[in-house]
Amino acid sequence: MDFVSVIERKKRGEELTNEEIRAFAGGAADGSVKDYQLAALLMAIRLNGMTDRETRDLTLAMAESGDMLDPDVGGVPVDKHSTGGVGDTTTLILAPLVAACGGKVLKMSGRGLGHTGGTIDKMESIPGMRVTMPEEEFVRTVREIGCCVVGQSAQLAPADKRLYALRDVTATVDSVPLIASSILSKKFASGARAIVLDVKTGSGALMPTEEDSIALAGAMVRIGALSGRKITAVISGMEEPLGSHVGNALEVKEAIDVLSRRCPEDLPLTRVALYLGAHMLTLSGVAKDLDCARAMLLEKLRDGSGLNKLREMIVRQGGDPRVCDDTALLGTAPVVREILCPADAYLCATDCTRLGYAAQRMGAGRASKEDVIDLRVGFVMKKRIGDFCRRGESLCAVHAADEASALRAEREILEALTFADEKCPPSRLIWDVVDENGVRRIGEDRQI
Ligand code: URA
Ligand code: CA
Repeated sequence: MDFVSVIERKKRGEELTNEEIRAFAGGAADGSVKDYQLAALLMAIRLNGMTDRETRDLTLAMAESGDMLDPDVGGVPVDKHSTGGVGDTTTLILAPLVAACGGKVLKMSGRGLGHTGGTIDKMESIPGMRVTMPEEEFVRTVREIGCCVVGQSAQLAPADKRLYALRDVTATVDSVPLIASSILSKKFASGARAIVLDVKTGSGALMPTEEDSIALAGAMVRIGALSGRKITAVISGMEEPLGSHVGNALEVKEAIDVLSRRCPEDLPLTRVALYLGAHMLTLSGVAKDLDCARAMLLEKLRDGSGLNKLREMIVRQGGDPRVCDDTALLGTAPVVREILCPADAYLCATDCTRLGYAAQRMGAGRASKEDVIDLRVGFVMKKRIGDFCRRGESLCAVHAADEASALRAEREILEALTFADEKCPPSRLIWDVVDENGVRRIGEDRQI
């Protein structure tokens, strides 16, 4: 195929054929199309968009550019994917809880990206934990215990690996069809048949506005419908870190604290984890509706089955299950520095992306692909948006590798927070649900 004519057609805003789209994805995976031609087409797609049919074809072509798992896990393989957040540890809470309820959680997760954390990095703070395993063992583990969380294998959607790296350096990340096909190609290839998407919105999100988040969610739900997969997207707030803990070992500790019932059940992190988990159970047909699903999950949280399931998963993945009883085994940072509230005032906003980068610069994330991360570092927020802060009270505890890094983090965290004299409302957690029936706005229902 003459690839220049494909670029030419998209440049003019025309709809590409499935054959042209397959040449694009295939050429990205096998190296037969040059970087500069792929980059030109990516920019043409970024500027002129794609129809749902084109996006569906691109998603399937990217998925089929590598291995396609068709796993027999003894139930509907269900997955959850977040578009990326800060202090967002829902996976480590909901995967064991959903499995304890009888769901089959087949999860391939990513590493941290930019200011956002990644489940695979977090899991590596559990001593001995294997985050890669042969596909056969991965599927067998899900069949036998109901959940397994591993990193994406190199054979999974290789077209996306090349295109994502090119998008990163050609200002073409922020494109709905490119994001939708990138995320979903990996989910389709890993064999998920029911997918709950957690599309973040707010100052820490890939899509900062609700309108853009709904557009992305809608595109992904429609691709699911056109490809025979069930997809529900939840738009959730990322105006501040979801959990209070930000950093790899710290976030695993918070997940274990939640599953050990050391935290209140209405903790925002727990509420979002239970809400997403309830959608996973209904979408995969384990529960008949959201209320039943929520009751099942709460029971498994309260009777300790969720924590036991996490323990089982850690054992199957070679990790030390004693971390579930003693979170100090996850490792602790040498320097802990308290940041005090600077004045009597309400915390009314955070620049959540800046908070994520503050953790990254402490060593919790990578600035370049080769960086080695420090699993122990990060910070624990003691206040949320809407809270009153009394001058001198603890605002945040920084867990750092050394004093210099703790001081820099303190400055960066304070710069990312906005205080006000007047009372302000807490940040919104669940904003909307997008599924085949359209968009549903969710009120501030304390039940969720
Ligand atoms: N996450 C992905 O996997 N791909 C994107 O394009 C954006 C976020
Ligand atoms: Ca993530």
